[in-house]
Amino acid sequence: MLYRLYKPEDFAELYAIEEVCFQPPLRFARNFMLRLVGSATGATWIAEEDSRMAGFAIVEWEAEAGGTAYIETIEVLPAMRGRGAGGELLRRLEESASASGMREIWLHVDESNSGAIRFYEAHGYWRQGREDSYYGPRRAALVYAKALTVGRK
Ligand SMILES: CC(C)(COP(=O)(O)OP(=O)(O)OC[C@H]1O[C@@H](n2cnc3c(N)ncnc32)[C@H](O)[C@@H]1OP(=O)(O)O)[C@@H](O)C(=O)NCCC(=O)NCCS
Repeated sequence: MLYRLYKPEDFAELYAIEEVCFQPPLRFARNFMLRLVGSATGATWIAEEDSRMAGFAIVEWEAEAGGTAYIETIEVLPAMRGRGAGGELLRRLEESASASGMREIWLHVDESNSGAIRFYEAHGYWRQGREDSYYGPRRAALVYAKALTVGRK
């Protein structure tokens, strides 16, 4: 597996993964996703194998050093899961955020997404709270966060 930063020509392949991984109402709209991957205060990491995208992950951070970063999403194609790609993408999001001076990283995860919850807990994320109806009526999100080591390489 190879890991690299996003380029604009990746968008169609990236959005095809979003369509496989998430159904509405959890799926990001195309325009919202375009805005995320184009953000100047964030990073999008790509995992690929044999020149085909296997997954991607997006983090955004605050402009001021010492702030917090937010994981927008992390997605690996079903056939490519369980081989460490998600873990490596997560590590790279954390590294990008800490290199930008962020002290903490946090995220929302669907309360019913037990696989992703296990994944974040295994990577040192702690449950901070719960938001009712975050993803829609009666679809709660859990909030997880992790402290970052600023400037970590
Ligand atoms: C969460 C996700 C990115 C993990 O990617 P991955 O490449 O499988 O991750 P890794 O191989 O590094 O780690 C897999 C670990 O994640 C957990 N996990 C994640 N999804 C799982 C699933 N569907 N079933 C079982 N375990 C799962 C397990 O704890 C597993 O640990 P193990 O290796 O000890 O068995 C991937 O499952 C995914 O794309 N899910 C759908 C999209 C999603 O829900 N993203 C999170 C949005 S908040």
